[in-house]
Amino acid sequence: MKIQTFDQYQEAYRQSVEDPENFWAEIAQEFQWRKPWKRVLQWNFDEPSIKWFEGGKLNITENCLDRHLKDRADQPAIIWEPNDPSEPTVTLTYQMLYDQVCRFANVLKRNGAKKGDRICIYMPMVPELAVAVLACARIGAIHSVVFGGFSARSIADRINDAECSIVVTSDGAVRGNKVIPMKDTVDDALIACPSVKRVIVLTQTRSAVSMIKGRDVWWETEMKQVTSECPAEEMDAEDMLFILYTSGSTGKPKGVVHTCGGYMVFTAYTFQNVFQYELGDVHFCTADIGWITGHSYIVYGPLANGATTLLFEGVPTWPDAGRFWDIVDKHKVNILYTAPTAIRSLMSFGTEPVEGKDLSSLKVLGSVGEPINEEAWHWYDDNIGKNRCPIVDTWWQTETGGILISPIAGITKTKPTYATLPLPGVQPILVDENGVEIEGNGVSGNLCMKFPWPGILRTTYGDHERCRQTYFSTYKGLYFTGDGCLRDEDGYYRITGRVDDVLNVSGHRIGTAEVENAINMHTGVVESAVVGYPHDIKGQGIYAYVITESDTAHEEDLIRRDILATVSRIIGPIAKPDKIQFVRGLPKTRSGKIMRRILRKIAEGDTKNLGDTSTLLDPNVVEDIKQGVLIEAKA
Ligand code: WT7
Repeated sequence: MKIQTFDQYQEAYRQSVEDPENFWAEIAQEFQWRKPWKRVLQWNFDEPSIKWFEGGKLNITENCLDRHLKDRADQPAIIWEPNDPSEPTVTLTYQMLYDQVCRFANVLKRNGAKKGDRICIYMPMVPELAVAVLACARIGAIHSVVFGGFSARSIADRINDAECSIVVTSDGAVRGNKVIPMKDTVDDALIACPSVKRVIVLTQTRSAVSMIKGRDVWWETEMKQVTSECPAEEMDAEDMLFILYTSGSTGKPKGVVHTCGGYMVFTAYTFQNVFQYELGDVHFCTADIGWITGHSYIVYGPLANGATTLLFEGVPTWPDAGRFWDIVDKHKVNILYTAPTAIRSLMSFGTEPVEGKDLSSLKVLGSVGEPINEEAWHWYDDNIGKNRCPIVDTWWQTETGGILISPIAGITKTKPTYATLPLPGVQPILVDENGVEIEGNGVSGNLCMKFPWPGILRTTYGDHERCRQTYFSTYKGLYFTGDGCLRDEDGYYRITGRVDDVLNVSGHRIGTAEVENAINMHTGVVESAVVGYPHDIKGQGIYAYVITESDTAHEEDLIRRDILATVSRIIGPIAKPDKIQFVRGLPKTRSGKIMRRILRKIAEGDTKNLGDTSTLLDPNVVEDIKQGVLIEAKA
């Protein structure tokens, strides 16, 4: 299934469009199935109903672990680089990972978990996080990993939405020079989570935690009670594998659902091809497992290929801005997959932290999460890849499960800032506002997909109608990505950013409505409107316009600080506005809709070209906002 030349790419692409079922069936045959599927694909985008390999029986962990034991038991599966570089690296071979996963799977069973149960995982980037994820998959429990930066309230919302019965967490976490209390946050969340019967706590920081009798147990103690023998649960290809919450244009995050068979085939196929992984290579994806990038390209994609995947606990700038390069040097990393925001942040330290680091092991560089600007692309190419490593700018989404548009490393000719061409099986289409296809090259429009690929989301947990409305109803018969996109003269795709009310802050998706809801919960706030604005490092920053009950003139700084604390509490620090401007009114149409276009312009610093303001209820409001002094929110 590995594409080795551009001709082969074109041939695979042609086959995948002409005969998708046979194309994917051939790829799927390379995996271990307990029973063959009955039909490769059944679909309609109207309900939507999408089924890949239905009737096929498998367990994804047999494909990620068991089947590698014969040839690669002693090969590193996971290399763990701790936050503190003076602490020892941990290497788990395939045999060791297999043993730990089976043991923890038995721990889950011992604590009442069964196939179909939902389990929330809220952990730092330690090997046990990957173990917990795989252990769920082993017994057919559905994991819902919540990123460690989310607040108690966000955890509670996610636990309740999925009615999780178990939470797996750690006492604390270390990131850079900060110690973060994980269990405390979980405890706060669980005050409002009646479905949770058990909390399994990993010892990580040895910080003091309260352990509630009858509910909380220690990871280490439990692991001693079980054996490393745990037969894998037989799953249908279309049984749920996991839920991962992501933001949209409404206030409530959605639980994106992926299933076992299609997701496995798609992440494994894209991993091998996009990065051109060769056995023995060390793959370093810097994302957190709490995001889809970590699910697909730290855990499942690499392990399904028998790869060595590097898991890093810390942050790129601690103890200094050379940390990534130290890791590349130390572990002889061959593939580095990171986000534009990290590149831009490291860029701001100059090239000094790169000097003297041996980066000669690198073969392929990857970028993901947001549009990469030209300057960052070249900096990455010149200083990290030394102009000899192809850069794969991979475009995809939580909902797509894996990469859809990307160069194939060393095979597709790259072009800075372009995600280039669709992978085999991916059929992009650009449409205008009315859903009319925009054909030809040198055009731009809204990016949709007209045919399913095996990794596409199946539903949003507990609310299928929401899935239909969000992704399949804007344009009939199409999956709508929410992104704007241009297709240039060469037919290359360049993603220009979201066209909905979703922000991309440091590669993290945040809904403006969510941030507004959080701000509005603060006492004294009457109304708020949140927009994105260009930010040098984060890509987009969060700009909030806030109306308060009383005149705030002499205590603006205090209120600003309090609002930030409220947003942190409600969503998490990642959603804190970068700028807060207090205003007396918001620009609204006569029907009461906030005209965000105007607010975006002002936030960008462009107060001259506000476009048509004739539909505004009160044009004076805009003048007021423009005059308003803009003081940056201090974190
Ligand atoms: C949104 C999806 C998919 C992994 C991480 C983010 C933006 C993602 C690119 C790219 C331009 C990109 C899109 C997309 N995005 N990759 N290579 N170039 N934009 O996952 O949180 O689901 O966000 O990230 O706007 O819709 P996510």
